[in-house]
Amino acid sequence: MDNHFVNRWYYIRMNKLIIANWKMNPPTLKEASILFSAIKQTALRTRNVQTVIAPPLVFLHALSASCKAKRIQFAAQNIHFEASGAQVGETSAVQAQNAGAKYVLVGHSARRENGETDLETGKKVVVALSAKFTPVLFVGESERDQDGLFLRTIRKQLITALKDVPQSRIKDVVMCYEPVWAISTSGSDKQITINEIHQMVLFIRKVLTDKFGERVARKVSILYGGSVNKENAEEIFTVPGVAGAAIGGASLDAKEFGTILQIANKTG
Ligand code: PGA
Repeated sequence: MDNHFVNRWYYIRMNKLIIANWKMNPPTLKEASILFSAIKQTALRTRNVQTVIAPPLVFLHALSASCKAKRIQFAAQNIHFEASGAQVGETSAVQAQNAGAKYVLVGHSARRENGETDLETGKKVVVALSAKFTPVLFVGESERDQDGLFLRTIRKQLITALKDVPQSRIKDVVMCYEPVWAISTSGSDKQITINEIHQMVLFIRKVLTDKFGERVARKVSILYGGSVNKENAEEIFTVPGVAGAAIGGASLDAKEFGTILQIANKTG
């Protein structure tokens, strides 16, 4: 094992990646700045955590310009896969990067519900990698069935989105398993169990291993997303192989999100 490998493995094991997915919130830049300042206080102190804030794109530049700490990075919630052109209302990878993003969320279920296909998600992964972004690839089933056919959906999402990613770059893609039915605003009252999260992390690692080989597949960070809050964070962060979380609703409450960062710091 060379040093790079040891360091990288150490990093993956020791630093939880926590993404605040603000979605289309809050309404004003003033509120976004207040929320960010409050989160920043904790995020700067949680050494074992890489905090990533994914604000609405219109607030990205102002927030990222106000904070240059490595411990806090920014993500675009989406990009277009074309470099430039007549895509009205869209943002290119380079533009998002120019606004201060280092990460980009791709294939979130909210985008897929708006018509994004697995192939388009895959193009975004490739564009993000070539622009030196870290893409966070969301996969997750809308519902489960007793026979486990939903696993085919997850496999297809992964295989299609990663089909043009070379073996040497797969370690630069972060995966996020986020079952749509477990998202806090999904309207379902079903909760995922710790065991089910563990099974899915193993399943995703297996799909990656089959496609890219074990040596690189083991280096990929896999996050969990879906109703993570201060009550369940500790249990989720101690599931073997869970490298962090994408957090929607609870990231809009600086106090609760701060508690989650502290839990991640402790379990890092
Ligand atoms: P939630 O959202 O934490 O509110 O369930 C997570 C997400 O959609 O990324």
